[in-house]
Amino acid sequence: EKGGYDHFMLKEIHEQPKAITDTYRGRLLANEGIIRMAGIDDHMNKFLNAERIIIVACGTSWHAGLVGEYLIEEFARIPVEVEYASEFRYRNPIVTSKDIVIAISQSGETADTLAAIKLAKSKGAFVFGVCNVVGSSIARETDAGAYTHAGPEIGVASTKAFTTQITVLTLLALKLASKKGQLSKPELRSYLQQMQLIPNKVEELLKIDTKVKKIAAVYKDAPNCLYLGRGFNFPVALEGALKLKEISYIHAEGYPAAEMKHGPIALIDENMPIFVIATNKGHYEKVVSNIQEIKSRAGKIIAIVTEGDTQVKEIADHVIEIPETEEAFTPLLTTIPLQLLSYHIAVMLGKNVDQPRNLAKSVTVE
Ligand code: M6R
Repeated sequence: EKGGYDHFMLKEIHEQPKAITDTYRGRLLANEGIIRMAGIDDHMNKFLNAERIIIVACGTSWHAGLVGEYLIEEFARIPVEVEYASEFRYRNPIVTSKDIVIAISQSGETADTLAAIKLAKSKGAFVFGVCNVVGSSIARETDAGAYTHAGPEIGVASTKAFTTQITVLTLLALKLASKKGQLSKPELRSYLQQMQLIPNKVEELLKIDTKVKKIAAVYKDAPNCLYLGRGFNFPVALEGALKLKEISYIHAEGYPAAEMKHGPIALIDENMPIFVIATNKGHYEKVVSNIQEIKSRAGKIIAIVTEGDTQVKEIADHVIEIPETEEAFTPLLTTIPLQLLSYHIAVMLGKNVDQPRNLAKSVTVE
């Protein structure tokens, strides 16, 4: 049932090229320059007239929501807010019928997310679901939606659900952008062609597993780790830290790289591993100077860079290369080595990777 892998998590990490392809199949029509998503097409006026989109979710799905905020604002130019469902539901939020609420949930059963949806509906908002489990409570409660087609995710640590949620949000952002005239047909077509190359690039990245394993062996005994990223990769830093925390029980924090100097930089010494995402287009020079700040405080730097990088390579202790793609699509690639890294560290520490202590696959209590 684990398909020859030692754990479900590893199997699910390796299933990502297929899961991403399954999620855009039938929706992404690159040659025609069209994105077909019935849940949006059937309610296009609502989307085009929305004054605001509020994304509600928990955990990893909330991180996907943050990537969604960057994507939707960048491409479709609709203001987006991302809220923890548990906060949203209890703070008497301002929601009106001009808002669209997007609820993201792998299981479709998360109690706080479900309650947030009911609240948003009672205030007249149109609610769109992004779920993985067909027929789940959240899928049923929402007005419309788009399923991720990740297939069953058994490992408690979410992996393929995250990348397929980002896939759906990318399609949604590009689709709205083109409908709103923010993207021309040739521009959309070129993005879609790039998008179609992602599964092969993920496949390529999965081959660097041995390298990631070696890095894991170096840092597995660290009591604390920092994860830094900017722009589209800021949420990936948060997700990288969450993955490490939940399966290896190592304390980790994710931060927007430039926030480091407002506090966390005080933590840096020669015992602190810092994972930095430094792709070539996303504020690259800025991230390089953040890396220099770490270096001058003797922190250990493990950088995720774009193939062909030279600058970061000179400063970092280890580099992991990702294939070139559009900056907006890099979360689908930068996430992969961070998943593998957490996995290997947890295995080396002898932890229960698929069922970490104190956690359940779906959190149906508030
Ligand atoms: O099923 P959901 O996406 O609604 O679950 C939300 C969180 O409980 C979930 O993402 C959790 O944070 C995972 N264990 C993360 O790996």
